Amino acid sequence: MSESLIIQGETKSERYAELASQLHSLLAGEADMIARMANVAGALKEAFDWWWVGFYRVIGNQLVLGPYQGPIACTRIAYNRGVCGTAWAQKQTIIVPDVEQFPGHIACSSLSRSEIVVPILINNEVIGVLDIDSEQINMFDEIDEKCLEEIVQIIIH
Ligand code: SME
Repeated sequence: MSESLIIQGETKSERYAELASQLHSLLAGEADMIARMANVAGALKEAFDWWWVGFYRVIGNQLVLGPYQGPIACTRIAYNRGVCGTAWAQKQTIIVPDVEQFPGHIACSSLSRSEIVVPILINNEVIGVLDIDSEQINMFDEIDEKCLEEIVQIIIH
């Protein structure tokens, strides 16, 4: 494995494609889910430099903070609470263009302005979520949704 990623694409789609192909080799041979999540969080941070990118894992009836890159964050989120708990309950990706407009949004950082949460499903059960926050409003769109859902598939295979 090389020491760093090579992400040179100018468009978001190109950067995601470059990242996805390198993730396959980055994760090859590593079965531990926390190790896989840790390197994916690091790779996403390196490729896109978002404010906060990381994982929460389902443990019992809560989401518990997992590997991430960014400022400190709340450690536990209840089912159906906040954006993360809602994505868990709905089993689908949620894009929040403006966190102030999302009822129940949990503000781990007052600088976060927009957010995307992608649930991670195995056999139709949510085992965790990928959560990404930006300090810019309206940062995430359907390209991020599609590409991040593909990256989540790489993590679980
Ligand atoms: N904003 C999230 C909480 C997690 S932090 O953003 C890292 C939510 O509403 O679920």
